[in-house]
Amino acid sequence: MPDLRPTPLIRTAREKDLPDVVRLDNAVFSFDPYPYFVLRQLFDAHGDHMFVLYEGEELIGYILFATSRTNSAAWGLSLAVAEGHRGRGMARRLLLKALERLRDEGVEEARLAVEPANTAAIALYGSLGFTSEGEVHEAYFGPSGDRLLMSLKL
Ligand SMILES: CC(C)(COP(=O)(O)OP(=O)(O)OC[C@H]1O[C@@H](n2cnc3c(N)ncnc32)[C@H](O)[C@@H]1OP(=O)(O)O)[C@@H](O)C(=O)NCCC(=O)NCCS
Repeated sequence: MPDLRPTPLIRTAREKDLPDVVRLDNAVFSFDPYPYFVLRQLFDAHGDHMFVLYEGEELIGYILFATSRTNSAAWGLSLAVAEGHRGRGMARRLLLKALERLRDEGVEEARLAVEPANTAAIALYGSLGFTSEGEVHEAYFGPSGDRLLMSLKL
């Protein structure tokens, strides 16, 4: 069967994408999504590091990084791919795009915090060269918010 899906397109997020981004974030992180106003303000502050991936009219993924004050490090704040579109390399594409932008801007390191049980995300980050010191930071995001910190020299 030929794949009749439209070609996936990654680009920097625009203001008009926000409702789609909020919908996707709510669907993927239903247990703890960003409230609309937080995503709005993250877009205002870091929109040049927010990338969306559309397949036709459908938003199927987004990623968000925020650079630190000195621009030496950037933190991954979100990465989500819609459930029905996983395993197609979409997250890898989004991450590579964001890392390319950070590198072009002279950012020296990308960092992120990942749930220790999130084997898919840890494998993805590891496949792109992210490493961790192996130590789980307990209550990093508050009670029940243990996280593994991973980083990549750009
Ligand atoms: C994690 C997530 C972003 C991966 O998205 P995806 O588009 O399915 O990932 P990709 O298809 O680009 O996979 C890239 C690599 O990630 C790893 N990976 C992805 N899904 C995996 C799974 N279920 N199990 C193990 N490894 C997996 C593999 O190394 C894969 O490379 P390969 O296909 O060559 O084996 C997606 O599952 C998701 O949105 N999960 C919920 C939100 C989340 O956990 N976000 C990350 C927060 S830190």
